[in-house]
Amino acid sequence: MKPIHVGLLGLGTVGGGTLTVLTRNAEEITRRAGREIRVVRAAVRNLDKAKKLAGELPLTTNPFDVVDDPAIDIVVELIGGLEPARELVMQAIANGKHVVTANKHLVAKHGNEIFAAAQAKGVMVAFEAAVAGGIPIIKALREGLTANRIEWLAGIINGTSNFILTEMRDKGAAFADVLKQAQDLGYAEADPTFDIEGIDAAHKLTILSAIAFGIPMQFDRAYTEGISKLTREDVKYAEELGYRIKLLGIARRAEAGIELRVHPTLIPERRLIANVDGAMNAVLVKGDAVGPTLYYGAGAGSEPTASAVVADLVDVTRLHTADPHHRVPHLAFQPDQLAATPILPMDEVRTAYYLRLRAFDRPGVLADITRILADRDISIDAMVQKEPGEGEEQVDIILLTHVTVEKNVNAAIAKIEALDTVAGKVMRIRLEELAAR
Ligand code: HSE
Repeated sequence: MKPIHVGLLGLGTVGGGTLTVLTRNAEEITRRAGREIRVVRAAVRNLDKAKKLAGELPLTTNPFDVVDDPAIDIVVELIGGLEPARELVMQAIANGKHVVTANKHLVAKHGNEIFAAAQAKGVMVAFEAAVAGGIPIIKALREGLTANRIEWLAGIINGTSNFILTEMRDKGAAFADVLKQAQDLGYAEADPTFDIEGIDAAHKLTILSAIAFGIPMQFDRAYTEGISKLTREDVKYAEELGYRIKLLGIARRAEAGIELRVHPTLIPERRLIANVDGAMNAVLVKGDAVGPTLYYGAGAGSEPTASAVVADLVDVTRLHTADPHHRVPHLAFQPDQLAATPILPMDEVRTAYYLRLRAFDRPGVLADITRILADRDISIDAMVQKEPGEGEEQVDIILLTHVTVEKNVNAAIAKIEALDTVAGKVMRIRLEELAAR
């Protein structure tokens, strides 16, 4: 059978890895796909830089040369960002080409429009590489777990922030120092704000929630809080209480809607996912039939991400002659079956909390604090008061609460901060048991 022709938009870390993997494993990939997958053209920003990697592969600096090339069957978009990636993908679809993309930002923001256009045109848009790099989590959710009603998922889906948190814990390092190290190691996005403020994780969570629950992409409704305000003390106190702090993306089906949130989270240290360290990623998915399942691997990097891109290329190659109705739907559920379940406002989310405050070590201080919590129906699970430092009058108090409603905790925090005996702000970090039940 004649080869299927692929055009690459971008020949950087992931594009280069894709070319390398396709070349090195050409024979096995052909045996799996049923025909050769051949890259016939690549669009790059800098011809001189790309020439060595590209070898004989024809290059262009105009990405529309690839998107409009009638000889190309599949366009692989690896340039990232919203524009011109969106325009290129839309044009590729309009030209009747299948698209493979690693662009989480694009899929999370414009996925609804892109999938509708692809559906109308009868082409596939595959995006395994957009979430958790080499981990086949899209495949697992869309196909492997298709029997299940997904109850919740929780993922470490940003390697940069996980690396920073791991270093803060292992070395007692301060946030700013480790961020610099992560940038030097090349983990961080071009704009590290996306990594450390949870935005990159929220893009990926948005995509996961859509295919887990059969809802449209709703990035703008995701709650996003990053790790830049975490202190070494919180990391240490969490550890002393038997917890690790991870930046988690959580999507949960609650009674009144869907929780969609990214924030630092205390997790019991005995959970496997609490032990995912460095730049690695992991996603824990709870299905009603299968129970909890955990997916672990490299969330970024050249060949791990290429592994996902090539898997999509093989899928598209196998299915491109199939009747569009016989393919796996983009968002796992049939397009006319997407649910309008609301995303819950953060105030309505239910979870447990770690609260750290600094208070004067005087009679009645704790009584005031616990009264404020009790008045809002917040039950305390554990409490620690640290020894005051040499010559200090104030002490750190750490409270763990049982599961409660976020708005009650916010109201209690405002009251506690207003006490004369409490200094400064209360540090609030959410806590999830991630239990199998
Ligand atoms: N900057 C991302 C991360 C890369 O740190 O996980 C992969 O999306």
